[in-house]
Amino acid sequence: IRIAVLVSGGGTNLQAVIDQIERGNIPAVIEMVISNRKDAYALERARRHGIESIYIGSKNFPNLKERNYRLEKILEERKIDLIILAGYMQILEGHIIEKYRNRIINIHPSLIPSFCGQGFYGEYVHRAVLEYGVKLTGATVHFVDEGADTGPVILQKAVEVQEEDTVESLAKRVLTLEHELLPLAVKLFAEGRLMVEGRKVRIKGGYS
Ligand code: GRF
Repeated sequence: IRIAVLVSGGGTNLQAVIDQIERGNIPAVIEMVISNRKDAYALERARRHGIESIYIGSKNFPNLKERNYRLEKILEERKIDLIILAGYMQILEGHIIEKYRNRIINIHPSLIPSFCGQGFYGEYVHRAVLEYGVKLTGATVHFVDEGADTGPVILQKAVEVQEEDTVESLAKRVLTLEHELLPLAVKLFAEGRLMVEGRKVRIKGGYS
């Protein structure tokens, strides 16, 4: 299958997917990496792996409608089957979500529906987790729908919150889970083993 990865930051999740594809564990190819941040290190990671990457953001497409139109055109031209949001800090336009229903996967650094929604991304999530005092947190891979982090859940994994945890130590531990869950979800999708029934995602044949 043909994948487009949308990024905004360091791209460690992108890297995790690249690594698994290059090891032959995922029957897919990343056609394009698209960043809404010109300085995203994720773009450098794509370049290093010979993956075409482009910047679509307010600098070269000041008009939001224009930006969404450009994004949609590229996805169409490249015949993209699966869109991965890997640390992407923009909300996708409703029309794209409709067109790619259950073909857009997002990774979120908490156990949805806890600590998610508008503004809950990156270290804000972990700060809220520490302030709330929960004993477990984790990562979630889900399909993207019109809400913020509200689509059907594909995979989740939990970690304990330690007494001495800081935002940094927690972010680091959860990121490790993200790098495990996102490639696995992409593999299951690429192998046609994710069956969505309403809000439920069933995995055909279980998973290792
Ligand atoms: C991280 O906070 C991660 O939890 C979330 O997006 C941020 C950047 O990830 N998914 P990445 O290193 O750019 O993939």
